[in-house]
Amino acid sequence: MGSTLSRRSFVRLGLAASAALAFPGCTQGSASQSPLTGSGSSEAKHAPAEKQGHEATEDGTSMGAPKTVTLSSGYEMPTQGLGTYALDYATCISSIHALTTSGGRLIDTAYMYHNEDAVGEGVRTCGVPREELFITTKIYPNQFADPEAAIEQALGKLNAGYIDLMLLHHPGTGDVEAYRAMERAVTAGKIRSLGLSNWYVKELESFLPQVETVPALVQNEIHPYYQEQDVVPYIQGLGIVVEGWYPLGGRGHNAELLADPELTAIAQAHGVSVPQVILRWDRQRNIVVIPGSSNPAHIAEDLNIHGFSLTEEEMARIAALDRAEKHDWY
Ligand SMILES: NC(=O)c1ccc[n+]([C@@H]2O[C@H](COP(=O)([O-])OP(=O)(O)OC[C@H]3O[C@@H](n4cnc5c(N)ncnc54)[C@H](OP(=O)(O)O)[C@@H]3O)[C@@H](O)[C@H]2O)c1
Repeated sequence: MGSTLSRRSFVRLGLAASAALAFPGCTQGSASQSPLTGSGSSEAKHAPAEKQGHEATEDGTSMGAPKTVTLSSGYEMPTQGLGTYALDYATCISSIHALTTSGGRLIDTAYMYHNEDAVGEGVRTCGVPREELFITTKIYPNQFADPEAAIEQALGKLNAGYIDLMLLHHPGTGDVEAYRAMERAVTAGKIRSLGLSNWYVKELESFLPQVETVPALVQNEIHPYYQEQDVVPYIQGLGIVVEGWYPLGGRGHNAELLADPELTAIAQAHGVSVPQVILRWDRQRNIVVIPGSSNPAHIAEDLNIHGFSLTEEEMARIAALDRAEKHDWY
């Protein structure tokens, strides 16, 4: 796996150009279009290859699991964060505080989680400057008919100045128009980067030629029982960052995965937990992770995956666990 990832790092040097070549109507988003300052710059647009790249060691293990990635929009994004699906108001705030206390800076929410207001309060009260945090939210297909209102609603509920990354939650009627509205909101400085969720190869092939800006990121279901072994390299090959939802199998769906004998054996070999093995496996595939948790000890544990690395042989054993078993319908 180490050598494969190294080859991908080289391939990625040309990725900013490759999406534009594959979909001539699309450009890579540029932070220089935004009136906002921050980490974005036209120079940063050329950085994803280095930031995502893994350092292969002589024994073939991949030690690198960079803590940030530079999106094609030019903005830097943390590669590990907190998912807030199903977290109620108070739990959402306490979990964000636990995240930032443990060094995490990335928070994932959505209109449909009904907690954007709690995320905003967590962000405003956590003691970390807004500019150091990265907030993702999503608009839902039932909002696509009036995307401007959906964007304004998210900005109002979050009350955090701007949205770092906004995604379309999943394909639906009016999705192209909704994306174009998000593109205009980027120009207006309301959103920094754009992306999609639950878009696969066929959906991307039809969607990308219809929009101006290549999405910076695609967020899809990914865990050891549903690995997207073809989809992930396809998306990454377009210069688009891949983020995995349900990394631990999904709240309420993860008992079997977290007790998996193969993952347990690998975890024991490294003296870590099964969630840490899974999250490390994602990061060695250059996948950004947003495990959900209401438990401060779990939140700290899930961030702590940099003291070990999985060997090629272990990555292959986990690859063999793929069952194409989706845990949700999107
Ligand atoms: N775009 C989409 O369509 C979509 C769909 C679904 C989800 N998402 C996003 O993806 C995020 C992740 O999904 P998810 O939260 O449903 O599921 P998940 O991250 O796969 O799993 C969360 C579950 O794992 C447990 N957990 C977390 N860390 C643990 C640890 N170290 N040890 C033991 N258990 C641990 C949590 O329990 P505790 O609370 O006890 O820690 C919770 O029950 C969501 O929160 C949401 O932001 C996006």
